Amino acid sequence: MTALKKSIQLNVEFLIERNWEVFSTEEQKLLNKAIEATKDAYAPYSKFKVGAAVLLANGNIIKGNNQENATYPNGLCAERVALFNAASNFPNQKINAIALTIDYVGKTITQPVFPCGSCRQSMLEYEDRFNQNIKIYIIGPSNEVVIINSVKDILPFAFSGDFL
Ligand code: THU
Repeated sequence: MTALKKSIQLNVEFLIERNWEVFSTEEQKLLNKAIEATKDAYAPYSKFKVGAAVLLANGNIIKGNNQENATYPNGLCAERVALFNAASNFPNQKINAIALTIDYVGKTITQPVFPCGSCRQSMLEYEDRFNQNIKIYIIGPSNEVVIINSVKDILPFAFSGDFL
C-alpha cells in the first residue's frame, strides 16, 4: 500500500430548539410556512411529503414542496422547488434562511429529516452567489427545530463553482 492516509475532523455544530417562543415572529412564520407547504406536496408515488420555505432579505417567504412524476427521476425535492422559485422570481434578493419539514403523519420517523445531498449542493450555490450563509431550520417529529448556520457545515468536500 503506497497510498497516503489522510483524515479530516468533522465537527458539526447545531442547535435543537424546542421552545418556539424564542423564535422571532418572522422565524415562526417561516417555520409555519414550511409545515403548510407539506400539505400541497405532490407525492403520490413515495407518499413522502416534504415542505420548505425560503426567507428572502426583503422579508418575502417563498414556499415549495416536492413534486413527483410517473417517470420517477423527473421529480424535484421541496427545498429546490422553493429555492428555484425564490431565485427565479426574486433574482436580486439574498436568501437568508430555509425551513423544511416532512408530513410526519403516518410515519414512524423519530428524527428530524435532513435535506438530501443534491439540495445541500443547491443551497451552497446560493450561499456562494449571495456571499452569505443560509440558516437552515429543520422541524422534527416533535416540533423540535434543528438549526444549522450554514450548509457548509453539513456538506464536506463540496463541489464549488470555483473549480470551473
Ligand atoms: N425529498 C425532498 O423533497 N427533500 C429531501 O431533502 C429528500 C427527499 C422528496 C423527494 C421525493 O419526492 C420524496 O421526498 C422521497 O424521496
